[in-house]
Amino acid sequence: MASVHVANSITDVIQKNNAINRQTILGLSTGNTPKPVYDELIRLNKAGTSFRNVVSFNLDEYYPMSGSSGKSYHSYMHNHFFSHVDIPSQNIHIPDGSIAEHEINEYCKSYEQKITDFGGIDIQILGIGRTGHVGFNEPGSGIDSITRLVYLEDITRQDAKIHFNGSPVPEKAITMGIKTILEAKKIYLLAWGEKKAEIIAKSFLQQVSSDCPVSFLQGNKKLELVLDEPAAAMIQNEIQVNRI
Ligand code: GLP
Repeated sequence: MASVHVANSITDVIQKNNAINRQTILGLSTGNTPKPVYDELIRLNKAGTSFRNVVSFNLDEYYPMSGSSGKSYHSYMHNHFFSHVDIPSQNIHIPDGSIAEHEINEYCKSYEQKITDFGGIDIQILGIGRTGHVGFNEPGSGIDSITRLVYLEDITRQDAKIHFNGSPVPEKAITMGIKTILEAKKIYLLAWGEKKAEIIAKSFLQQVSSDCPVSFLQGNKKLELVLDEPAAAMIQNEIQVNRI
């Protein structure tokens, strides 16, 4: 299964780094897509792979958003992953959606600096939104974009409604940039289901353009595109596919 393959690849790196007492820096994402990877990582943690030397940086958080809100990505990460593994809480970094607006620029710079100080992200996990966003890099995001405050597209807010139980979806978010993501040493972009087939095809078969930020990953040697059959339906005759 694709998510087991990704989780195994991640724990291979963690184990090799653990053996030489080196930290592993993970870039993590939210949404439904990475959940089966987190489930498998939790299983592998219980089976003996320690996450004590793992440091994590999440891609994004809604703004404004209190970390303690059940709708926050802080809660998502705690519920679906962090509370089930032995990662030390001081190693966890998630953009702070409760920062005062006038402090956001400085805060975003310090988030970037922290990633640099840890030596960069070893493995970045990505999902894809219907607008072709990664993290919350919506259309218009440039290849040089870094961590910053952004406005969300209507489609993105529409898709998020299901998690907000009737309360309004924030109009903004703090997200790592395309540049931040592209600097990771290894990138897994995951997509499951037929509703992702069209945006995957647009991202990888059409011209690279900031109209579809995922397209900046086209041809990237560090990228592994991990799809199930329905998500791959519109590209498998066009690009070489390894079945796992
Ligand atoms: C949100 C997140 C993205 C995620 C996307 C897709 O916009 N910020 O990181 O990739 O949703 O979500 P899902 O995996 O639920 O389809």
